[in-house]
Amino acid sequence: MAAAVQTRSRWLFARHFLADPRSVGSAIPSSRRLVSRLIGGVDWETARVIVEYGPGTGCVTRAILAAMAPDARLYAFDINADFIAHLQRTLPDPRLILVAASAETVAARLAADGIGHVDAAISSLPLTIMPPRVRCRILNATHRVLAPGAPLSFYQYSTRQVRQLRRHFGALAMSFEPRNWPPAFVFTARK
Ligand SMILES: C[S@@+](CC[C@H](N)C(=O)[O-])C[C@H]1O[C@@H](n2cnc3c(N)ncnc32)[C@H](O)[C@@H]1O
Repeated sequence: MAAAVQTRSRWLFARHFLADPRSVGSAIPSSRRLVSRLIGGVDWETARVIVEYGPGTGCVTRAILAAMAPDARLYAFDINADFIAHLQRTLPDPRLILVAASAETVAARLAADGIGHVDAAISSLPLTIMPPRVRCRILNATHRVLAPGAPLSFYQYSTRQVRQLRRHFGALAMSFEPRNWPPAFVFTARK
């Protein structure tokens, strides 16, 4: 990414964090180490439809696009219209479908394109601090759209709510990435 674009991305991210910390969840985008841990549980050879929740200014989105097959599709959902506009300008990739809506709408959006199942879901959502009803709707919808055996990977800054997250998916694999600010736990659940 060009230095000027990176600087603009960082300002945009920080500005929206200050305006709405509960929704953005972090003052700076995820580190490269965290991103690579987050997307590491996906079989990129076979994945053809992937969903991303909370792309923000695109640090995870870029890594997914770099890893995924030329004929795969990535649906990225964000409720922040400025982030979506920024991604439209800075990531012109025909495999990327940007959706300016909550991750709660994932099943309906995919159904509109005739897609019943996805091969991976990758989330940067601040799940532990979002309203419980919204979290529950997102996890239920994700469970519905994941193909059997497909992973949901997400990171959080604490292990709070893990018991509740387990209720939706059963087993959760957990690892820790210290080289991020703040350090983060990465979880992978499989349907
Ligand atoms: C911590 S930022 C993640 C940004 C980037 N992916 C990263 O890892 O640095 C969380 C993102 O989730 C988005 N978000 C919050 N609630 C959402 C929801 N219900 N559906 C989709 N996106 C949401 C915010 O707008 C923000 O872009």
